[in-house]
Amino acid sequence: MTPSVTVSRRGAERLKSGHPWIFRSDVVAAEAEPGDIVRVASERGKTLGWAYWSSASQIALRMLEGPGAPMPGDRELIAARIRAAAAYRDSLGIIGGAWRLVHGEADGLPATVVDRYGNGEGAWFVVQTLAQGSDRRLPLLVDALVEQFGPTGIIARNDPRVRTLEGLEPRVDVVYGEVPDRIVVEENGIRFGVDLRHGQKTGLFLDQRDNHAAAARYAQGEALDAFTYNGGFALHIARHASSVLALDISASAVEATAANAALNGLTNVEVREANVFDELRELESSGRRFDTITLDPPAFARNRASVERAVGGYKEINLRAIRLLRPGGHLITCSCSYNVSDTLFLEVVRSAAADARAAMWLVERRGQAADHPILLNAPETSYLKCLVLRRVG
Ligand SMILES: C[S@@+](CC[C@H](N)C(=O)[O-])C[C@H]1O[C@@H](n2cnc3c(N)ncnc32)[C@H](O)[C@@H]1O
Repeated sequence: MTPSVTVSRRGAERLKSGHPWIFRSDVVAAEAEPGDIVRVASERGKTLGWAYWSSASQIALRMLEGPGAPMPGDRELIAARIRAAAAYRDSLGIIGGAWRLVHGEADGLPATVVDRYGNGEGAWFVVQTLAQGSDRRLPLLVDALVEQFGPTGIIARNDPRVRTLEGLEPRVDVVYGEVPDRIVVEENGIRFGVDLRHGQKTGLFLDQRDNHAAAARYAQGEALDAFTYNGGFALHIARHASSVLALDISASAVEATAANAALNGLTNVEVREANVFDELRELESSGRRFDTITLDPPAFARNRASVERAVGGYKEINLRAIRLLRPGGHLITCSCSYNVSDTLFLEVVRSAAADARAAMWLVERRGQAADHPILLNAPETSYLKCLVLRRVG
């Protein structure tokens, strides 16, 4: 018998609005095994579409097809969606060898991430299967990637914490070919050493690629890159600034940034292991000032309950950064907290500028790179905010 899940009227309405998830509270009845592809039915028995079923998560259903479509064959569906995702990325003209090939729900492959890292020696994929449905089909995902791209190696970085919500264990496995400890890839003509096994995210913050390039366009004079990781902003800026001070609390990030600066022959980058909150205060009291500042902290708000505290954190670093900025200088400030909206983040930065008694222009409102597409009716697929501001007084 075809596995099937009946959803409430509210759930059906949600699907009609174009959102690809049904929450557990809207499930009326379920006859399915963990990770099954199920028929989604209304209480009157009408087929609303097809979805991955999770027996554990609050996100009970992740839609694969809408009404009218036949039950999808998983192998064909995965292969077709990867082909479509690749065609879109090919159209983007990305400069460098690393990009997001599959951005989950936006690419019609729920709870699935595929990042591609390539150089003259090979191409590697880092995959994440973050829900029961996509995790069960990891072998099909690997088959499709091998058939379509013939990669050198594929690694499953299935260590994000969200997997525990699905009852899935954290694990990291090479699932195809060979994956070296470190590879070098280019982004916008700058070389980065990447650790695909242990690096943050899947190795690089690919969602910031275009913001790195934008920051380089504004960079000049003395620059500060707070929360540098492996130098994403710092190295892009270093080509245009007289000096860059890069800060990170993690010793391995500091080591990676220094190594990446050397890899690119950049001698004007000083990397310091420091807590940004403390260091900004010290830089201010020591009288240091900058012409370019980038702020790219980790997500301060990981859930709705932590938004208030997160706002305090964003306000503090932005206020201190604005005080450190010379008139005529630029602040490039980011938030990757989905729970802090575009409007709220702008308001935080606005109030920081007011407290600093600084006149600022909002020069650009930016987001995640286009290889991380936003599904308009799934706001959860939009998370990164990046504001470019110029201090004018
Ligand atoms: C979002 S990542 C930065 C990504 C980077 N800017 C890029 O474009 O590739 C955030 C970084 O902040 C660092 N970090 C977290 N809390 C910190 C703190 N209080 N002070 C300094 N660095 C911190 C983490 O180690 C991590 O490398």
